Amino acid sequence: MIREILRMGDPRLWQSSRPVGRVPSQELDALLADMRDTMRAANGAGLAAPQIGVPLRVVIFGMDFNPRYPDAPPIPWTELVNPVLTPLGDEVEEGWEGCLSVPGLRGVVPRYARLRYEGFDPQGQRISREVDGFHARVVQHECDHLDGILYPMRMRDFARFGYTDVLFPDMAAGEE
Ligand code: NI
Repeated sequence: MIREILRMGDPRLWQSSRPVGRVPSQELDALLADMRDTMRAANGAGLAAPQIGVPLRVVIFGMDFNPRYPDAPPIPWTELVNPVLTPLGDEVEEGWEGCLSVPGLRGVVPRYARLRYEGFDPQGQRISREVDGFHARVVQHECDHLDGILYPMRMRDFARFGYTDVLFPDMAAGEE
């Protein structure tokens, strides 16, 4: 079922989410089904459970080709429960981000260039990956939602924050 995506300003987006207690479960499967439906309908690259008003530590992400990120490399489809992120090194990269909870806007956000993420898949199998680049960026963005952080709160240069259609007038129309 497609759920409403909460938008910036809704206090539920500032909350810290709690860990999922049991994996697998029917409740978790139902939540993930709604998250997939909602993310696909919005053409997003990722979604965190609190964005649909569920304060649990669950994120999904992945991308073949997304017109919102036409230059981004593919990211394997991932459903991640109780994620833990560990930066690998101090290197930080800046890059453009958008968020389904901040529709119509983009901003440049500093993120760790490389990290390890660990957690569980919906069947309870361990996931552990080392990633970099856009994959690492997406994971950090989604997991920030679990701590009540939206990307504008990470920004350092508000001269690089604006409306997508103004910043990128050549991008395909009809997104967001
Ligand atoms: Ni987001």
